[in-house]
Amino acid sequence: MIDLDNKALQILQTNDQGGYTVPTQGMYPYQWNWDSAFVALGFATFDMDRAIAEIETLFEAQWDNGMVPHIVFRVDDPGYFPGPSVWNAGQTLPSSGITQPPVAAFVVESLWKRANDEDHKARLKALFPKLFAYHKWFKTYRDYENLGVVVTVHPWETGRDNCPEWDEPLSAVKCDHVAPYKRRDLDHADAAMRPTMAEYDRYIALVEYGRSVDWDPEIIASQGPFRVADVGMTMILLRSNKSLLNLANEYGDAESASEITTWINQTKSGVDYLWDDETKTYCCRDTINGRFSGLVTNASFLSFFANVGSPDQRARQLAHWDRITAETKFMVPSCDPASSSFDASRYWRGPIWAVVNYMVALGLSEIGEALRYQQVLQDTKTLIELSEFPEAFNPITGEGSGGESFSWTAAMWLAWAQQDIN
Ligand code: GLC
Repeated sequence: MIDLDNKALQILQTNDQGGYTVPTQGMYPYQWNWDSAFVALGFATFDMDRAIAEIETLFEAQWDNGMVPHIVFRVDDPGYFPGPSVWNAGQTLPSSGITQPPVAAFVVESLWKRANDEDHKARLKALFPKLFAYHKWFKTYRDYENLGVVVTVHPWETGRDNCPEWDEPLSAVKCDHVAPYKRRDLDHADAAMRPTMAEYDRYIALVEYGRSVDWDPEIIASQGPFRVADVGMTMILLRSNKSLLNLANEYGDAESASEITTWINQTKSGVDYLWDDETKTYCCRDTINGRFSGLVTNASFLSFFANVGSPDQRARQLAHWDRITAETKFMVPSCDPASSSFDASRYWRGPIWAVVNYMVALGLSEIGEALRYQQVLQDTKTLIELSEFPEAFNPITGEGSGGESFSWTAAMWLAWAQQDIN
């Protein structure tokens, strides 16, 4: 254990570029939005100052309209594609033109609860207006039709880049005009674990589309070729809005609290838009044609983290949980093993991510599912003991998948999975 603690610590220190952390060396040489937020939880176990700095540097890249980009390009690394010139997002601090799951407010609340130094508290409080502006941007430009859910415009925005939930909506995206490019991810990871060429062409077509409209958020949200209501981001935003509300109350900011409460209520009543009564689960839904993905994924189980669903919906979700538990060795796979799209080693089509396990587990514990909570904690712990700190884990063999020496896997060990299990 001490050995793993030290290794995790070392990974964070090696990947620390001075104020911000890269997810891993080589494959991901920049600052990523939700990675940084989770990494802050890891730093907080031994250096609160550094933990807060991680969030501060992320918000340095916040756009005037409130968006916090999914990648911040502080350097130009030719080993990464698509880099700053491909995004061409027109920001002083170069960034991508899309966001990522808004875990930041949830993380800031956790740091706030732990901070006892006045300077730390003041720095965390100074983040509040930025978090508020970020969530307001979500309300304005990622829920353009007022459905009460998060409608994403690029699979990369959801953090679950290559999930089969995108296959159908992505197949409608035209990509014959995409300029020739060279993928760089395959220089760092096994092609069998990464997205296919056909998928990649469409990811790039969506970047080219955003660029062609100068990343105008209103045009993208109302006319873009990819507009899918994402179950993961919806559940995470709801949870983070609850954190933001707690912070607003803590700071005596009644005006913000009232606006956040409206957002929360809209999502609570809108979330059923994502309930697929055929599969009996929460999943993604294409807002262009109304079709559900019909897939159970690890993001479906984030409904526990958001604490939504009637008793019947919860029971249905738990029935899927038990079925999947019986079909796989470790929880929680990123795609249902019973689905024809399941692939135990390919990116978001089967592998387990420790950060998603953490959120799902927390949700389970909060809704009183103590045994299932322990199951996820134990599985995450065993996976790290077996394979240490890769990007993700094969849910059948427990082997590492994707990149190695990953910051957020190390952070999840330090902040959560290393604990003793009774
Ligand atoms: C991949 C993941 C995304 C993550 C990034 C950096 O793109 O799909 O969720 O943020 O890698 O780790």
